[in-house]
Amino acid sequence: VQTQVGIIGAGPAGLMLAHLLLLNGIDSIIIERNIQSNLEGRIRACVFEQDTLDLLDRIHFKSINGRRLHLEGLMYHGIRMQFNGKRFRLPLSKLTNGKAVTVYGQHLLIEDLITDLKLKGVQMYFQVKNVEIERLDSERPMIRFHHSETDYEMHCDFVAGCDGFYGVSRASIPREILTEYERKYPFGWLCVSVAVEPSCEELIYSYHQHGFALYNKRSNELSRFYLQVSTGDSIEDWSDERIWEQLHLRLNMTDPHWTIKQGQILDKTIFSVRTFMVEPMQYKQLFLVGDVAHIMPPTGAKGMNMAIADAKVLSDALSEWYMTDSNDQIQSYSEKCLHRVWLAQEFAMSMSELLHRNFDLESKNDGFDQQMIHARQRHLAQSEHVQRAFAHMYTGTPF
Ligand code: FAD
Ligand code: DHB
Repeated sequence: VQTQVGIIGAGPAGLMLAHLLLLNGIDSIIIERNIQSNLEGRIRACVFEQDTLDLLDRIHFKSINGRRLHLEGLMYHGIRMQFNGKRFRLPLSKLTNGKAVTVYGQHLLIEDLITDLKLKGVQMYFQVKNVEIERLDSERPMIRFHHSETDYEMHCDFVAGCDGFYGVSRASIPREILTEYERKYPFGWLCVSVAVEPSCEELIYSYHQHGFALYNKRSNELSRFYLQVSTGDSIEDWSDERIWEQLHLRLNMTDPHWTIKQGQILDKTIFSVRTFMVEPMQYKQLFLVGDVAHIMPPTGAKGMNMAIADAKVLSDALSEWYMTDSNDQIQSYSEKCLHRVWLAQEFAMSMSELLHRNFDLESKNDGFDQQMIHARQRHLAQSEHVQRAFAHMYTGTPF
Protein backbone atom coordinates (compact mmCIF):
# COMPACT_ATOMS: atom_id res chain seq x y z
CA VAL A 1 0.00 0.00 0.00
CA GLN A 2 1.06 3.60 -0.65
CA THR A 3 0.40 6.80 1.27
CA GLN A 4 2.01 10.13 2.12
CA VAL A 5 2.20 9.65 5.90
CA GLY A 6 2.22 6.21 7.56
CA ILE A 7 0.83 6.50 11.10
CA ILE A 8 1.59 3.83 13.71
CA GLY A 9 -0.90 3.88 16.61
CA ALA A 10 -4.55 4.97 16.93
CA GLY A 11 -4.34 6.86 20.23
CA PRO A 12 -5.10 10.57 20.55
CA ALA A 13 -1.81 11.47 18.79
CA GLY A 14 -2.23 9.25 15.70
CA LEU A 15 -5.94 9.93 15.19
CA MET A 16 -5.61 13.69 15.59
CA LEU A 17 -2.65 13.73 13.23
CA ALA A 18 -4.67 11.93 10.53
CA HIS A 19 -7.50 14.47 10.93
CA LEU A 20 -5.21 17.51 10.84
CA LEU A 21 -3.33 16.20 7.78
CA LEU A 22 -6.59 15.59 5.99
CA LEU A 23 -7.60 19.21 6.53
CA ASN A 24 -4.54 20.12 4.45
CA GLY A 25 -5.27 17.50 1.80
CA ILE A 26 -2.54 15.08 2.95
CA ASP A 27 -3.27 11.31 2.93
CA SER A 28 -2.37 8.97 5.69
CA ILE A 29 -2.98 5.35 6.68
CA ILE A 30 -3.20 4.30 10.34
CA ILE A 31 -2.14 0.91 11.67
CA GLU A 32 -3.09 -0.11 15.22
CA ARG A 33 -2.11 -3.13 17.29
CA ASN A 34 -5.33 -3.31 19.30
CA ILE A 35 -8.90 -4.08 18.31
CA GLN A 36 -11.10 -1.03 17.97
CA SER A 37 -13.46 -1.93 20.83
CA ASN A 38 -10.50 -2.21 23.24
CA LEU A 39 -9.41 1.34 22.48
CA GLU A 40 -12.92 2.63 22.97
CA GLY A 41 -13.30 0.81 26.30
CA ARG A 42 -10.04 1.95 27.91
CA ILE A 43 -10.81 4.68 30.45
CA ARG A 44 -7.87 7.05 30.69
CA ALA A 45 -7.44 10.78 30.38
CA CYS A 46 -10.20 13.30 30.46
CA VAL A 47 -9.07 16.85 31.17
CA PHE A 48 -8.93 18.85 27.94
CA GLU A 49 -7.10 22.15 27.89
CA GLN A 50 -8.90 25.02 26.18
CA ASP A 51 -6.57 24.97 23.14
CA THR A 52 -6.99 21.22 22.71
CA LEU A 53 -10.74 21.72 22.60
CA ASP A 54 -10.43 24.60 20.13
CA LEU A 55 -8.25 22.46 17.90
CA LEU A 56 -10.83 19.66 17.99
CA ASP A 57 -13.45 22.16 16.84
CA ARG A 58 -11.32 22.92 13.81
CA ILE A 59 -11.37 19.40 12.42
CA HIS A 60 -14.95 19.70 11.14
CA PHE A 61 -16.50 16.47 12.34
CA LYS A 62 -18.76 14.98 9.68
CA SER A 63 -20.60 12.74 12.10
CA ILE A 64 -22.72 13.84 15.03
CA ASN A 65 -19.90 12.66 17.31
CA GLY A 66 -18.23 16.04 17.01
CA ARG A 67 -21.16 17.58 18.83
CA ARG A 68 -21.05 14.98 21.62
CA LEU A 69 -17.90 16.56 23.04
CA HIS A 70 -19.80 19.81 23.59
CA LEU A 71 -23.02 18.17 24.69
CA GLU A 72 -21.50 15.73 27.17
CA GLY A 73 -18.20 17.44 28.03
CA LEU A 74 -18.27 19.16 31.42
CA MET A 75 -16.67 22.58 31.47
CA TYR A 76 -14.87 23.45 34.70
CA HIS A 77 -14.27 27.09 35.50
CA GLY A 78 -12.53 26.14 38.71
CA ILE A 79 -10.98 23.24 40.61
CA ARG A 80 -10.76 22.47 44.32
CA MET A 81 -7.50 22.01 46.18
CA GLN A 82 -7.42 20.44 49.61
CA PHE A 83 -4.53 20.28 52.05
CA ASN A 84 -5.07 18.14 55.16
CA GLY A 85 -8.86 18.47 55.16
CA LYS A 86 -8.95 22.21 54.36
CA ARG A 87 -10.37 22.96 50.92
CA PHE A 88 -10.30 26.05 48.72
CA ARG A 89 -11.36 26.81 45.18
CA LEU A 90 -9.01 27.89 42.42
CA PRO A 91 -11.20 29.97 40.11
CA LEU A 92 -9.40 29.04 36.87
CA SER A 93 -11.42 31.30 34.57
CA LYS A 94 -11.13 34.31 36.82
CA LEU A 95 -7.38 33.79 37.18
CA THR A 96 -6.75 33.35 33.44
CA ASN A 97 -9.10 35.86 31.82
CA GLY A 98 -11.69 33.30 30.90
CA LYS A 99 -9.88 30.01 30.25
CA ALA A 100 -11.44 26.75 31.44
CA VAL A 101 -10.86 23.00 31.10
CA THR A 102 -13.34 20.43 29.82
CA VAL A 103 -13.80 16.93 31.17
CA TYR A 104 -14.63 14.34 28.52
CA GLY A 105 -13.40 10.73 28.45
CA GLN A 106 -10.41 10.00 26.21
CA HIS A 107 -12.11 6.74 25.18
CA LEU A 108 -15.10 8.75 23.90
CA LEU A 109 -12.78 11.05 21.97
CA ILE A 110 -11.10 8.00 20.40
CA GLU A 111 -14.50 6.67 19.30
CA ASP A 112 -15.46 10.09 17.86
CA LEU A 113 -12.18 10.46 15.97
CA ILE A 114 -12.29 6.92 14.53
CA THR A 115 -15.94 7.19 13.43
CA ASP A 116 -15.18 10.40 11.60
CA LEU A 117 -11.97 9.21 9.97
CA LYS A 118 -13.91 6.24 8.59
CA LEU A 119 -16.59 8.56 7.21
CA LYS A 120 -13.87 10.65 5.60
CA GLY A 121 -12.42 7.54 3.95
CA VAL A 122 -9.11 7.28 5.85
CA GLN A 123 -7.82 3.69 5.78
CA MET A 124 -7.23 2.08 9.16
CA TYR A 125 -5.93 -1.40 9.91
CA PHE A 126 -6.67 -2.69 13.41
CA GLN A 127 -5.11 -5.74 15.12
CA VAL A 128 -1.87 -5.48 13.14
CA LYS A 129 1.17 -7.51 14.21
CA ASN A 130 4.92 -7.60 13.58
CA VAL A 131 5.25 -3.89 12.80
CA GLU A 132 8.72 -2.93 11.52
CA ILE A 133 9.99 0.35 10.12
CA GLU A 134 12.53 0.05 7.32
CA ARG A 135 14.53 2.23 4.89
CA LEU A 136 14.52 5.30 7.07
CA ASP A 137 17.65 6.33 5.20
CA SER A 138 15.80 6.52 1.90
CA GLU A 139 13.24 9.04 0.63
CA ARG A 140 10.49 6.41 0.78
CA PRO A 141 10.55 4.62 4.11
CA MET A 142 8.49 1.48 4.50
CA ILE A 143 6.41 0.02 7.30
CA ARG A 144 5.95 -3.76 7.30
CA PHE A 145 3.03 -5.28 9.16
CA HIS A 146 0.88 -8.36 9.31
CA HIS A 147 -2.91 -8.08 9.19
CA SER A 148 -5.60 -10.76 8.70
CA GLU A 149 -3.24 -13.47 7.47
CA THR A 150 -1.50 -11.10 5.02
CA ASP A 151 1.91 -9.41 5.11
CA TYR A 152 1.80 -5.77 4.04
CA GLU A 153 4.40 -3.22 2.97
CA MET A 154 3.34 0.39 3.41
CA HIS A 155 5.43 2.84 1.37
CA CYS A 156 5.25 6.45 2.51
CA ASP A 157 7.10 9.79 2.56
CA PHE A 158 7.08 10.09 6.35
CA VAL A 159 6.46 7.80 9.30
CA ALA A 160 4.62 9.15 12.37
CA GLY A 161 5.40 7.01 15.41
CA CYS A 162 2.30 7.56 17.57
CA ASP A 163 2.52 4.17 19.26
CA GLY A 164 2.76 5.11 22.93
CA PHE A 165 5.44 4.31 25.47
CA TYR A 166 5.72 0.59 24.57
CA GLY A 167 5.57 1.04 20.78
CA VAL A 168 8.15 0.13 18.15
CA SER A 169 8.97 3.57 16.76
CA ARG A 170 11.38 4.76 19.42
CA ALA A 171 13.19 1.43 19.28
CA SER A 172 13.67 1.87 15.51
CA ILE A 173 16.01 4.82 16.08
CA PRO A 174 19.69 3.95 16.69
CA ARG A 175 20.37 4.15 20.43
CA GLU A 176 23.31 6.53 20.08
CA ILE A 177 21.03 9.17 18.51
CA LEU A 178 18.72 9.39 21.53
CA THR A 179 19.13 10.85 25.00
CA GLU A 180 16.64 9.44 27.48
CA TYR A 181 15.69 10.92 30.85
CA GLU A 182 13.73 9.00 33.43
CA ARG A 183 12.47 9.51 36.99
CA LYS A 184 10.60 6.84 38.91
CA TYR A 185 8.35 7.90 41.75
CA PRO A 186 8.10 5.88 44.96
CA PHE A 187 4.34 5.50 44.51
CA GLY A 188 1.63 4.45 42.09
CA TRP A 189 -1.98 5.46 41.44
CA LEU A 190 -5.01 3.31 42.09
CA CYS A 191 -7.81 4.39 39.69
CA VAL A 192 -11.40 3.58 40.51
CA SER A 193 -14.58 4.10 38.43
CA VAL A 194 -17.74 4.26 40.51
CA ALA A 195 -21.40 4.25 39.46
CA VAL A 196 -22.61 7.12 41.58
CA GLU A 197 -23.96 10.64 41.31
CA PRO A 198 -21.45 13.49 41.73
CA SER A 199 -20.06 14.27 45.17
CA CYS A 200 -18.84 17.71 44.07
CA GLU A 201 -19.40 19.87 40.97
CA GLU A 202 -15.66 20.28 40.37
CA LEU A 203 -12.47 18.23 40.51
CA ILE A 204 -10.82 17.85 43.91
CA TYR A 205 -7.05 17.36 44.32
CA SER A 206 -6.30 16.40 47.90
CA TYR A 207 -3.09 16.10 49.92
CA HIS A 208 -3.46 14.12 53.13
CA GLN A 209 -1.04 12.64 55.60
CA HIS A 210 -1.99 9.18 54.26
CA GLY A 211 -1.23 10.32 50.70
CA PHE A 212 -2.80 11.91 47.64
CA ALA A 213 -6.41 11.45 46.52
CA LEU A 214 -8.39 12.82 43.59
CA TYR A 215 -12.09 13.00 42.89
CA ASN A 216 -13.59 13.76 39.49
CA LYS A 217 -17.13 13.78 38.25
CA ARG A 218 -17.29 12.16 34.81
CA SER A 219 -21.07 12.39 34.35
CA ASN A 220 -24.22 12.42 36.47
CA GLU A 221 -23.90 8.65 36.89
CA LEU A 222 -20.12 8.09 36.92
CA SER A 223 -17.33 9.33 39.20
CA ARG A 224 -13.59 8.66 39.09
CA PHE A 225 -11.44 8.45 42.17
CA TYR A 226 -7.65 8.06 42.45
CA LEU A 227 -5.49 7.16 45.44
CA GLN A 228 -1.74 7.29 45.92
CA VAL A 229 -0.57 3.74 46.70
CA SER A 230 2.84 2.24 47.49
CA THR A 231 5.05 1.00 44.67
CA GLY A 232 4.59 -2.73 44.40
CA ASP A 233 0.99 -2.68 45.69
CA SER A 234 -1.27 -4.92 43.63
CA ILE A 235 -5.00 -4.77 43.20
CA GLU A 236 -5.39 -7.68 45.66
CA ASP A 237 -4.03 -5.36 48.37
CA TRP A 238 -6.95 -3.01 47.80
CA SER A 239 -10.33 -4.45 48.75
CA ASP A 240 -13.36 -2.23 48.07
CA GLU A 241 -13.62 -1.72 51.80
CA ARG A 242 -10.05 -0.42 52.08
CA ILE A 243 -10.56 1.84 49.05
CA TRP A 244 -13.64 3.51 50.60
CA GLU A 245 -11.96 3.85 53.95
CA GLN A 246 -8.97 5.66 52.37
CA LEU A 247 -11.13 7.77 50.04
CA HIS A 248 -13.19 9.02 52.97
CA LEU A 249 -10.11 9.64 55.05
CA ARG A 250 -8.21 11.53 52.35
CA LEU A 251 -11.06 13.43 50.67
CA ASN A 252 -13.49 14.33 53.43
CA MET A 253 -13.27 17.87 54.71
CA THR A 254 -12.78 18.61 58.34
CA ASP A 255 -14.81 21.80 58.40
CA PRO A 256 -17.50 22.20 57.17
CA HIS A 257 -18.41 18.56 57.29
CA TRP A 258 -18.60 17.12 53.77
CA THR A 259 -18.35 13.53 52.60
CA ILE A 260 -18.00 11.65 49.31
CA LYS A 261 -20.90 9.64 47.92
CA GLN A 262 -20.38 5.88 47.71
CA GLY A 263 -21.58 3.60 44.91
CA GLN A 264 -20.75 0.40 43.09
CA ILE A 265 -17.08 0.10 42.08
CA LEU A 266 -17.10 -0.75 38.36
CA ASP A 267 -13.37 -1.19 37.86
CA LYS A 268 -10.09 -0.62 39.64
CA THR A 269 -6.54 -0.60 38.29
CA ILE A 270 -3.10 0.35 39.55
CA PHE A 271 -0.32 1.94 37.52
CA SER A 272 3.12 3.20 38.47
CA VAL A 273 3.85 6.90 38.20
CA ARG A 274 6.87 7.84 36.11
CA THR A 275 8.48 10.54 34.07
CA PHE A 276 10.20 9.86 30.79
CA MET A 277 11.58 12.10 28.06
CA VAL A 278 13.53 11.41 24.91
CA GLU A 279 15.44 13.80 22.71
CA PRO A 280 15.34 14.39 19.77
CA MET A 281 11.81 13.49 18.68
CA GLN A 282 12.83 12.98 15.07
CA TYR A 283 15.21 10.73 13.16
CA LYS A 284 15.35 11.15 9.38
CA GLN A 285 11.81 10.60 8.04
CA LEU A 286 10.48 9.26 11.37
CA PHE A 287 8.76 11.52 13.93
CA LEU A 288 7.91 10.54 17.49
CA VAL A 289 4.54 11.91 18.56
CA GLY A 290 2.97 11.77 22.06
CA ASP A 291 3.61 9.21 24.80
CA VAL A 292 6.25 7.39 22.71
CA ALA A 293 8.52 10.38 23.42
CA HIS A 294 7.30 11.67 26.76
CA ILE A 295 5.42 10.46 29.81
CA MET A 296 4.60 12.77 32.66
CA PRO A 297 3.15 12.16 36.08
CA PRO A 298 -0.65 12.19 35.67
CA THR A 299 -1.29 14.83 38.36
CA GLY A 300 -1.36 17.81 35.99
CA ALA A 301 -3.53 15.99 33.40
CA LYS A 302 -1.09 16.94 30.63
CA GLY A 303 -0.21 13.73 28.70
CA MET A 304 -3.04 13.64 26.18
CA ASN A 305 -2.90 17.39 25.68
CA MET A 306 0.82 17.14 24.89
CA ALA A 307 0.22 14.24 22.48
CA ILE A 308 -2.35 16.32 20.59
CA ALA A 309 -0.08 19.39 20.61
CA ASP A 310 2.75 17.31 19.02
CA ALA A 311 0.31 16.17 16.33
CA LYS A 312 -0.54 19.80 15.57
CA VAL A 313 3.13 20.82 15.28
CA LEU A 314 3.84 17.85 12.99
CA SER A 315 0.84 18.44 10.76
CA ASP A 316 1.85 22.10 10.32
CA ALA A 317 5.41 21.06 9.46
CA LEU A 318 4.39 18.40 6.94
CA SER A 319 1.80 20.70 5.38
CA GLU A 320 4.47 23.35 4.85
CA TRP A 321 6.73 20.75 3.24
CA TYR A 322 4.04 19.50 0.84
CA MET A 323 2.91 23.00 -0.06
CA THR A 324 6.19 24.88 -0.37
CA ASP A 325 8.95 22.25 -0.34
CA SER A 326 10.47 24.03 2.67
CA ASN A 327 11.67 21.80 5.46
CA ASP A 328 12.22 24.57 8.02
CA GLN A 329 9.34 23.47 10.23
CA ILE A 330 10.27 19.81 9.82
CA GLN A 331 13.72 20.60 11.13
CA SER A 332 12.38 22.47 14.13
CA TYR A 333 9.68 19.86 14.98
CA SER A 334 11.60 18.27 17.83
CA GLU A 335 12.75 21.52 19.40
CA LYS A 336 9.32 23.10 19.21
CA CYS A 337 7.57 20.12 20.81
CA LEU A 338 10.21 19.62 23.48
CA HIS A 339 10.03 23.23 24.55
CA ARG A 340 6.32 22.85 25.38
CA VAL A 341 6.70 19.36 26.85
CA TRP A 342 9.55 20.26 29.24
CA LEU A 343 7.45 23.12 30.55
CA ALA A 344 4.44 20.84 31.08
CA GLN A 345 6.75 18.24 32.60
CA GLU A 346 8.03 20.76 35.11
CA PHE A 347 4.44 21.71 36.01
CA ALA A 348 3.26 18.10 36.34
CA MET A 349 6.29 17.21 38.49
CA SER A 350 5.89 20.14 40.82
CA MET A 351 2.14 19.55 41.11
CA SER A 352 2.89 15.91 41.97
CA GLU A 353 5.37 16.92 44.63
CA LEU A 354 2.89 19.38 46.07
CA LEU A 355 0.16 16.75 46.45
CA HIS A 356 1.86 13.41 47.24
CA ARG A 357 3.61 12.13 50.34
CA ASN A 358 7.13 10.97 49.48
CA PHE A 359 7.47 8.44 52.31
CA ASP A 360 10.83 7.18 50.98
CA LEU A 361 12.47 10.58 51.05
CA GLU A 362 10.83 11.59 54.32
CA SER A 363 12.17 8.48 56.08
CA LYS A 364 15.72 9.54 55.16
CA ASN A 365 15.64 13.03 56.66
CA ASP A 366 14.34 15.13 59.52
CA GLY A 367 11.14 16.38 57.90
CA PHE A 368 12.76 19.28 56.05
CA ASP A 369 11.27 18.27 52.67
CA GLN A 370 7.79 17.96 54.12
CA GLN A 371 8.09 21.44 55.62
CA MET A 372 9.04 22.76 52.16
CA ILE A 373 5.92 21.17 50.66
CA HIS A 374 3.72 22.61 53.39
CA ALA A 375 5.20 26.07 52.74
CA ARG A 376 4.41 25.73 49.03
CA GLN A 377 0.86 24.62 49.84
CA ARG A 378 0.30 27.65 52.07
CA HIS A 379 1.71 29.92 49.39
CA LEU A 380 -0.70 28.52 46.78
CA ALA A 381 -3.66 28.78 49.15
CA GLN A 382 -2.88 32.38 50.11
CA SER A 383 -1.26 34.13 47.15
CA GLU A 384 -3.31 35.14 44.13
CA HIS A 385 -0.06 35.66 42.25
CA VAL A 386 0.92 32.00 42.73
CA GLN A 387 -2.64 30.88 41.91
CA ARG A 388 -2.53 32.83 38.66
CA ALA A 389 0.69 31.12 37.54
CA PHE A 390 -0.75 27.74 38.49
CA ALA A 391 -4.05 28.37 36.66
CA HIS A 392 -2.21 29.45 33.50
CA MET A 393 -0.23 26.22 33.38
CA TYR A 394 -3.21 24.05 34.35
CA THR A 395 -5.45 25.44 31.59
CA GLY A 396 -2.55 25.12 29.13
CA THR A 397 -0.04 27.25 27.27
CA PRO A 398 -1.30 28.39 23.83
CA PHE A 399 -0.35 26.42 20.70
P1 FAD B 1 -1.54 6.09 23.42
O1 FAD B 1 -2.85 6.61 23.89
O2 FAD B 1 -0.78 5.16 24.30
O3 FAD B 1 -1.78 5.41 22.00
C1 FAD B 1 -0.79 4.64 21.36
C2 FAD B 1 -1.48 3.62 20.49
O4 FAD B 1 -0.50 2.90 19.75
C3 FAD B 1 -2.25 2.59 21.30
O5 FAD B 1 -3.57 2.50 20.82
C4 FAD B 1 -1.46 1.30 21.09
O6 FAD B 1 -2.29 0.15 21.09
C5 FAD B 1 -0.83 1.54 19.73
N1 FAD B 1 0.39 0.76 19.49
C6 FAD B 1 1.38 0.46 20.37
N2 FAD B 1 2.33 -0.27 19.76
C7 FAD B 1 1.93 -0.43 18.49
C8 FAD B 1 2.49 -1.11 17.38
N3 FAD B 1 3.65 -1.76 17.46
N4 FAD B 1 1.82 -1.09 16.21
C9 FAD B 1 0.62 -0.44 16.10
N5 FAD B 1 0.05 0.22 17.14
C10 FAD B 1 0.70 0.22 18.31
N6 FAD B 1 -3.62 13.02 29.91
C11 FAD B 1 -4.27 14.22 29.89
O7 FAD B 1 -3.91 15.07 29.05
N7 FAD B 1 -5.28 14.53 30.75
C12 FAD B 1 -5.70 13.64 31.69
O8 FAD B 1 -6.65 13.90 32.42
C13 FAD B 1 -5.02 12.37 31.78
N8 FAD B 1 -5.39 11.43 32.68
C14 FAD B 1 -4.83 10.19 32.64
C15 FAD B 1 -5.31 9.24 33.52
C16 FAD B 1 -4.77 7.95 33.47
C17 FAD B 1 -5.31 6.93 34.42
C18 FAD B 1 -3.74 7.62 32.52
C19 FAD B 1 -3.17 6.23 32.45
C20 FAD B 1 -3.27 8.57 31.64
C21 FAD B 1 -3.81 9.86 31.69
N9 FAD B 1 -3.37 10.84 30.80
C22 FAD B 1 -3.97 12.09 30.82
C23 FAD B 1 -2.34 10.53 29.79
C24 FAD B 1 -2.94 10.20 28.41
O9 FAD B 1 -3.88 9.15 28.53
C25 FAD B 1 -1.82 9.81 27.42
O10 FAD B 1 -0.82 10.80 27.47
C26 FAD B 1 -2.34 9.69 25.98
O11 FAD B 1 -3.11 8.52 25.82
C27 FAD B 1 -1.19 9.66 24.97
O12 FAD B 1 -1.67 9.47 23.68
P2 FAD B 1 -0.79 8.75 22.55
O13 FAD B 1 -1.64 8.74 21.33
O14 FAD B 1 0.55 9.38 22.50
O15 FAD B 1 -0.52 7.29 23.10
C1 DHB C 1 -8.33 12.87 35.98
C2 DHB C 1 -7.02 12.44 35.85
C3 DHB C 1 -5.99 13.29 36.16
O1 DHB C 1 -4.71 12.91 36.04
C4 DHB C 1 -6.24 14.57 36.62
O2 DHB C 1 -5.20 15.38 36.93
C5 DHB C 1 -7.55 14.99 36.75
C6 DHB C 1 -8.59 14.13 36.42
C7 DHB C 1 -9.43 11.92 35.63
O3 DHB C 1 -9.14 10.90 35.02
O4 DHB C 1 -10.59 12.17 35.96
